[in-house]
Amino acid sequence: MQIQSNVSLRHLNTFGLDAAARYFVNVRSVEELTAILRDPVWKRTPKFILGGGSNILLTKDIDALVIHPGLKGIDMIEENEEEIVLKVGAGEVWHEFVMYCVGKGYGGVENLSLIPGTVGAAPMQNIGAYGVEIKSVIESVEAVDMESGAKRVFTNAECRFGYRESVFKKTLKDKYLITGATFRLSKKPVLNVAYGDVQKTLQEMGAETPTIRDISEAIMHIRRSKLPDPAEIGNAGSFFKNPEIPVTQFNELKGTFPELPGYPVDAGTIKVPAGWLIERAGWKGYRDGAIGVHARQALVLVNYGGGTGAEIKALSEKIQESVADKFGIRLNAEVNFI
Ligand code: EPU
Repeated sequence: MQIQSNVSLRHLNTFGLDAAARYFVNVRSVEELTAILRDPVWKRTPKFILGGGSNILLTKDIDALVIHPGLKGIDMIEENEEEIVLKVGAGEVWHEFVMYCVGKGYGGVENLSLIPGTVGAAPMQNIGAYGVEIKSVIESVEAVDMESGAKRVFTNAECRFGYRESVFKKTLKDKYLITGATFRLSKKPVLNVAYGDVQKTLQEMGAETPTIRDISEAIMHIRRSKLPDPAEIGNAGSFFKNPEIPVTQFNELKGTFPELPGYPVDAGTIKVPAGWLIERAGWKGYRDGAIGVHARQALVLVNYGGGTGAEIKALSEKIQESVADKFGIRLNAEVNFI
């Protein structure tokens, strides 16, 4: 294990922003991690956990020891005719794990194909797409206490998953490093095709009785048609969360904007697509130098190359103001600002 100093994080965040880490280490096992956490020298140094870097906006250098969880491995824990339970290292690339499951016929994560980031980062914000959230397949999450170095296993309920939320983003923020997660997957999958364009895309593909591989392919097709590939254009997926507003406010807005889409959350609350609000506020395809708003999905802010985190932050604030002025709705960032 090698601890480096002054390391550029440009290739470790999907916005491609050029910030530096004061110190950087890639930990490949729980033992390596606990050795650092219990080392008297490093104990005093502030620490920062950086997984796939697919949900952060670096606005400055990180004056800390940046720990990159590089723990690998997919291990079978339990198996019967119906299900399989797999324990996966935090450093595995999420999409590669999805492809592994699709290849073996293990259902449950196919709707989450092509989401950037790592397995360890996925439970943090309960990643979700096309009608499925990771909370529906997580059995438990393994983590290490950043203060004591002690191991702890969180059950699904203890993770307190919500819409792009978990205990790791709230009360336990920065307190634990996720070292792995255990997934319960189905060998007789129940397919989830109700959301948006999935059914239509499957029909276009000619998949009459779709398999999980068909669903994965349909979703990859939809994502590629709407979302920019971070390898080509820097971005962190949806920049804002979809806001939830009271039904009364939704009905009032419908008076002025009859086409406003909305999805009921509970009896009194409606979720509205932030992408729709941003587009109607006139931002879709906006570009200012190296940064802008993606032309095919207004919820995604982009760095065409050479933009700074501060510029993207300023743009996000302008978008928030203009959406608040036009619709009276406050957008909250999904991306974490550093
Ligand atoms: N829309 C617009 N203009 C836009 C973008 C969207 O009018 O520029 C409208 C669409 O027409 C549609 C609605 O907004 O009626 C929803 O759009 P879409 O299905 O593309 O999904 P989203 O709500 O914008 C959410 C997630 C995505 C996830 C997709 C698919 C959030 C914050 N985002 O986006 O997650 O892939 O649904 O399930 O919940 C991410 O979190 O990084 C992410 C990409």
